[in-house]
Amino acid sequence: MDASGEREADVVVADGRIVEVGPGLASQHAGAQVLDASGCLVSPGLVDLHTHLRQPGKEEAETIETGSRAAALGGYTAVLAMPNTTPAMDCAAVVREVLELGRSAPCDVHASGAITVERAGAALAPMAEMAELGVRIFTDDGTGVQDDRLMRRALEYSVGLGVTLAQHCEVSSLSEGTCMHEGEWSSRLGLPGQPAEAEELMVMRDIALARLTGARIHLLHLSTAGSVAMVAAAKASGLPVSAEAAPHHFTLTDECCKEYDATFKVHPPLRNAADVAALKAGLADGSIDAIATDHAPHAPEDKERPFDQAPPGMLGLEFALALAFTELVDGGAMSEADVLGTLSWKPAAIAQMVDHGGPVEAGHAANLCIVDPAARWTVDASGGASRSRNVPYVGRELRGKVRHTVLFGEPVVIGGEAQR
Ligand code: DOR
Repeated sequence: MDASGEREADVVVADGRIVEVGPGLASQHAGAQVLDASGCLVSPGLVDLHTHLRQPGKEEAETIETGSRAAALGGYTAVLAMPNTTPAMDCAAVVREVLELGRSAPCDVHASGAITVERAGAALAPMAEMAELGVRIFTDDGTGVQDDRLMRRALEYSVGLGVTLAQHCEVSSLSEGTCMHEGEWSSRLGLPGQPAEAEELMVMRDIALARLTGARIHLLHLSTAGSVAMVAAAKASGLPVSAEAAPHHFTLTDECCKEYDATFKVHPPLRNAADVAALKAGLADGSIDAIATDHAPHAPEDKERPFDQAPPGMLGLEFALALAFTELVDGGAMSEADVLGTLSWKPAAIAQMVDHGGPVEAGHAANLCIVDPAARWTVDASGGASRSRNVPYVGRELRGKVRHTVLFGEPVVIGGEAQR
């Protein structure tokens, strides 16, 4: 299954590339290693546009090795590492360190670069030197670029570099001091809430700036119905805007916060049922291009702090595909092929990752995800391969389990087990 459709076939791989695709090929290759994919969908490997690997600086929560292992187990062959590390990925030296550490990872680790120095929002980071290392997405993720003029300059600069700016849409003057969505549940719980408008005002501004500058913009982890509507309108008017949604935002609502369990604290916050429905509809009609995990590991001692003091974020890499099949396909919103598009070939195109996203055809890089769509499993509290345990889906029954993941021809996951 790839962007061109679906067919029943064997896939022959050698030297990191797909060499043949067709029926009955297994018997012609005696001596080859065979991965049993019966009953499975074979898709281009998944691509995550939004992964917090925490290295350098927060290795107690995750490392490039553990995070990329979680990615491989989740069917991902490529992840885009977010720049809110310590130090931030705001110059060539730190980007180079991440790329080098990623070389031995069981998943292709791409680096994003910060838009501003130290993600502080005051001065443009040296984007050109990072672009030279292959960085194609720049973002201050964790915060949005608040200054309109600086964002305009960054967008103008991005055009010449051939890169895309990705925005964490959050107006900090409206979100400061808040810890969940502003609505009925924040009132009941007595917790300070963040209105949907904190996100929507920046979505609105960035669409306007994309129009002004002609630059591409990617909107990260959108969470509100209003944001989806604005992106749909921007696309309809021909603007080069793309957007992603995170699995937790189309699966969970602010009601999950009712036990004050900080596992459910995330930025942007879990919203209400109408927002969840709008995100599903936006994914189904293509207004939202991609599902991106915002995999955000935090050490247990941090997540055990009181709700208002705990850091925001939840794990996602090992659950995204099954959540999408369960919530979106079984929920009647999308087909499996369309879901795989939002998880693989569409994000690969947004991040200009030429070796990922397929097609599953001779000559292309052998980056593959083999998923058993009939397998049902229940999420446990282990956190899987991640160093952290902040899983908000414990006890949920999901459909769809990754059986094998193939990275440049090497099976890095076989039968659901990581090989390195
Ligand atoms: O919940 C979040 N956690 N949202 C973000 O944007 C950043 C992330 C993190 O780094 O923990």
